[in-house]
Amino acid sequence: MSRHHPLRQAIGAAERVLADAGVASPRTDAELLAAHVLGVERGKLPLVPMVDATVLDALAALVARRARREPLQHLTGDAAMGAITVAVGPGVFVPRPETELMFAWGLATLAEVRSPVVVDLCTGSGVLALSVANARPDARVHAVDIDAAALSWARRNADARAAAGDTPVRLHSGDVTDPGLFADLDGQVDLLLCNPPYVPDGTEVPPEVADHDPAHAVFSGADGLTVIRSVVTAAARLLRPGGAVAIEHDDTHGDSVPALLADRGVFTDIEDHPDLAGRPRFSTARRRPMA
Ligand SMILES: C[S@@+](CC[C@H](N)C(=O)[O-])C[C@H]1O[C@@H](n2cnc3c(N)ncnc32)[C@H](O)[C@@H]1O
Repeated sequence: MSRHHPLRQAIGAAERVLADAGVASPRTDAELLAAHVLGVERGKLPLVPMVDATVLDALAALVARRARREPLQHLTGDAAMGAITVAVGPGVFVPRPETELMFAWGLATLAEVRSPVVVDLCTGSGVLALSVANARPDARVHAVDIDAAALSWARRNADARAAAGDTPVRLHSGDVTDPGLFADLDGQVDLLLCNPPYVPDGTEVPPEVADHDPAHAVFSGADGLTVIRSVVTAAARLLRPGGAVAIEHDDTHGDSVPALLADRGVFTDIEDHPDLAGRPRFSTARRRPMA
């Protein structure tokens, strides 16, 4: 694509508009929106020959919405994790790249486990549960969320993945603070994954989060730990001896979530892990074998 190619010029203009609007990654977003409009992969943009005015108009319209800080994934309609993408939009939390590290950690714990039982608490779009089911067709995966709107996105994504050939996941409507949640799985779960709401109430968040992620998917009490406390309790009950738990948390929780796990007295191998930016992001542990 030459410097004077209309698409290249449009992407450059979009980048400037998005930068002025305070978007964190304006070039990336401009290119991803252009790729979305054209129906090509981002890496293939330089190979696009001529574009007509309708393409440039469609790109300009999406850029204007992104400049008003609508999440990029609401505009493209999807978000990726592992080898899959899930549909997202108003009413459901947009999966974040940092959660991919927790997913990879969890998957690795299953390497030697045949037909594992996996639970995804606070599933939102279903992204973690569906990524596990895609990577491990032999797994029995249960996912739960309290929110009807989130569950309808999860249902849509689960149906799409099952139609694509993945082992179906079992979706449940439920509250992770319920002490009887998944009682029939007590002591049987090989892996429990959870990306819960964890931001302390009142924390300032970017417009994409404040105006578009559901508040109950983001905030969790004055210290951000309200739901996580219940997740630790559920993990102690649900995991089989040797089973693994991974809980994503706020970057201020690098000491407090491992401490909550340690206080339970039933976990070993408690560790905290950084995200791609090096900030504390998720805690992991194993259920201690019975004495
Ligand atoms: C941060 S989002 C995570 C969604 C998904 N796991 C992901 O990584 O993209 C948290 C989810 O927890 C759900 N949630 C909040 N409180 C809950 C509760 N007490 N029980 C079950 N789900 C809850 C919200 O509806 C939301 O979908």
